[in-house]
Amino acid sequence: MSAVSSAVEMFDLDTAAADLALAAIAGLGSAPKTLPCKLFYDKRGSELFDRICTLPEYYPTRTEVGILRDRIDSIVEAVGPKVQLVELGSGSSIKTRILLDALLDPVAYAPVDISREHLWESAERIHRDYPSLQVQAVCADYTEPFGIPDPRRTPARRVAFFPGSTIGNFDEDEARRFLRRIADIVGVGGGLLIGVDLRKSEEVMVAAYDDAQGVTAEFNLNVLHRLNREAGADFAVDQFEHRSIWNRELGRIEMHLVSRVEQSVEIAGQRFDFAAGEAVQTESAYKYGLEQFAAIADGFRVERVWHDSEWRFSVQYLVVEDEPADQRPGMSAASG
Ligand code: AVI
Repeated sequence: MSAVSSAVEMFDLDTAAADLALAAIAGLGSAPKTLPCKLFYDKRGSELFDRICTLPEYYPTRTEVGILRDRIDSIVEAVGPKVQLVELGSGSSIKTRILLDALLDPVAYAPVDISREHLWESAERIHRDYPSLQVQAVCADYTEPFGIPDPRRTPARRVAFFPGSTIGNFDEDEARRFLRRIADIVGVGGGLLIGVDLRKSEEVMVAAYDDAQGVTAEFNLNVLHRLNREAGADFAVDQFEHRSIWNRELGRIEMHLVSRVEQSVEIAGQRFDFAAGEAVQTESAYKYGLEQFAAIADGFRVERVWHDSEWRFSVQYLVVEDEPADQRPGMSAASG
């Protein structure tokens, strides 16, 4: 555990800072070219994402907050008292507070985030406003395996909170593996309260990722500015443009950066050529049907689903049940 300046405890599990140049070189060397969406979130990118969440076209944030506010009694009833709340990401303080204000005697709050500074600040704010709650901040990349410290008081169960439909930014296999890992972390009897964006009209979905004010375009292009600043790249940023499309076959929105001209770019001594019109995919945002999501929620059973009146977005409570005896390791399925 690292130095503690207040009652917030910090568990630093982040072993190596992500190597920006390597990640970019790997993605741009693949065909078709990609860049990982975690590159969005430097300081500027995080500020732009906060602005996106307030845009008229970006329905997910306000819809999810509305569901949490309107259905909080039913959510608290499902989750139960005395939980250790593990939040994956620490950026959603409005949503966290809706929960913490209503949960019955929560035992501890453990936000998990890769951005140490952001994590520390938000954990401090929660500690200030909920002084009797044990706050155990875990600095880790939650997309990789991580552990959660035991709190002082024994909780009735561990419940992970993963709002924002960030699960949509994982490919389906990644989402399955991730959910399986969260099921292991919360354990039998534990739960996951998760925001899941739903399929709707293409027009609404595409506009949410291509707003009229151009904030999402700036957010997308900021990846190139970031690579120029931090990885010694020489992108001519104004020679790329933002594009958002609905990929019907894969059921996802894709964000691309499209090269306006034929050009080449260097990163850490490696050259990448772009044809005019060639696209780099920077993000996927999968939109699910309820059954489809239940089918990828490995390790969980969907217990409750709350949604808005237009079925735009859902908040779901998933629980981990004991495996049936015939599926435990060493047991074979009953036959005959
Ligand atoms: C963080 N994530 C859930 C957002 C989304 O909607 O996929 C990221 C985002 N990208 C563009 N706008 C918002």
